[in-house]
Amino acid sequence: MELYNLFPTAIGFAGFNRALTDEELFFIQTLETRKNIGNTTSVDNFVLRNAALTELRAFIEDAVADYFHSTVNPKHNVNLRMTQSWCNYSEPGQHHHKHAHPNSFVSGVFYVQTNPDDRIYFYRDEWQQIKLPPETWNAYNSESWWFHVKAGQLILFPSSLPHMVQEVKGELVRISLSFNTFPVGTVGEEMELTGLRLEA
Ligand SMILES: [Fe+2]
Repeated sequence: MELYNLFPTAIGFAGFNRALTDEELFFIQTLETRKNIGNTTSVDNFVLRNAALTELRAFIEDAVADYFHSTVNPKHNVNLRMTQSWCNYSEPGQHHHKHAHPNSFVSGVFYVQTNPDDRIYFYRDEWQQIKLPPETWNAYNSESWWFHVKAGQLILFPSSLPHMVQEVKGELVRISLSFNTFPVGTVGEEMELTGLRLEA
């Protein structure tokens, strides 16, 4: 039997080609924070606009463009512009509730500081009416899937895809930097009545 994976969900992985400098790390570690559900988040919600993170931003923007052109492969001149960006701090025992990112097209997380068994869980957003416990889990029969995450790694995913972080185990504060994007340029096709031009 040959099986084809129709309409798959692309999860992008990319590695920053160097460790964060002490200055970058210090900048992220000392941002003012506020309470979130289960953990804390930076008050600054445009963190990638700071000069201290210029090189990290350039790396992320390149990866986003690569993901967008490899998956969407747009006909017209349209690109993803980074919108908001913020840092998440999860102390051992804290977690990050299941959520998705509205008003965004592709979202991503860059890992700043992780514990050895840190993971991200993604969820299939549909109610399972008929449940058949599988012998082994695969991409067809799973309701969720997880990946190990480590410092220096960037993960990109469709913003509508629900995700979650389990209770942090280990000694370090799990620190990640998240961001959203939105298409700008010639988004649709006027002849198909989907025309939308957003200033780049
Ligand atoms: Fe998120």
